[in-house]
Amino acid sequence: MLITGNAKLAGVFGWPVGHSLSPRLHGFWLDRYGIDGAYVPFAVKQDDFEMALRTLPKLGFRGANVTVPHKETALALCDQVDTLAERIGAVNTIVVTPEGRLRGSNTDAFGFMENLTQEAPAWRAETGPAAVLGAGGAARAIVAALVDAGVPEVRLINRTLKRAETLADNLGGPITVVPWAELTEALGGANLLVNTTTQGMPGTPPLDVNLQALPEQAMVTDIIYTPLQTDLLKDAANRGHPTVGGLGMLLHQARPGFSQWFGREPEVDAELRSFVLSGLSG
Ligand code: ATR
Repeated sequence: MLITGNAKLAGVFGWPVGHSLSPRLHGFWLDRYGIDGAYVPFAVKQDDFEMALRTLPKLGFRGANVTVPHKETALALCDQVDTLAERIGAVNTIVVTPEGRLRGSNTDAFGFMENLTQEAPAWRAETGPAAVLGAGGAARAIVAALVDAGVPEVRLINRTLKRAETLADNLGGPITVVPWAELTEALGGANLLVNTTTQGMPGTPPLDVNLQALPEQAMVTDIIYTPLQTDLLKDAANRGHPTVGGLGMLLHQARPGFSQWFGREPEVDAELRSFVLSGLSG
């Protein structure tokens, strides 16, 4: 990577941040488009986050991504926040304005929908209910995306019912909260099943979901991308469901930040996917 004294700068805040694929992803695009710029990891502890974030404009950075555990704090610290980030309750992308102010947004909902659009162009939000497993941070962005896309009903299924109720109350829209024990029946007539829980990642037991009631044409997607093919996706594919993996959401959520910091609309394609994947395998 060759940069000059005029290089455009951005980065990602996280703690830990070593596992983040974002530097690899943005670095690939910078190289592909021959941009004089750099995207660096910021390993910043919670106690230091406010000071570090406020330093961004002083250092001439154009902005940053924010990942775990800073997304909610970033929402509170930004000078301006767009309405979608406000609804989701978290900021993952920050742009430094020409006046040196921090403008926060959340691109996870965009990433989720763009991944579906690219991988499953025939899928239509209006066709039927969507079943969402989980009610954590990722679920908030995905439920917002589905409601905004015009899904007639979101069935929100979570182990801790209260958390799902709070999410539904905060977001508003056609959301039905379903206890985990009623998961199997809740899949009846659904047009989409999304796993937003952490179940299925290495070191966690596989997600035990009975897909019997799910109509065969229903799309099944998982936001987990390690492994790329979760047991849920394998099971769904064996039953004849179209499936979409989680890596694309990560790749697409990065697009709005890249274009604002570096001035070029980046593309998500097979070459990018395999480059980012090779970072996962070691
Ligand atoms: P994120 O912000 O990435 O979504 P999170 O906030 O920790 O992560 O949320 C994790 C989600 O996985 C939650 O919906 C959690 O359910 P609870 O709200 O009941 O904790 C869900 N989850 C974690 N382990 C689970 C398990 N063994 N079975 C079912 N759901 C599980």
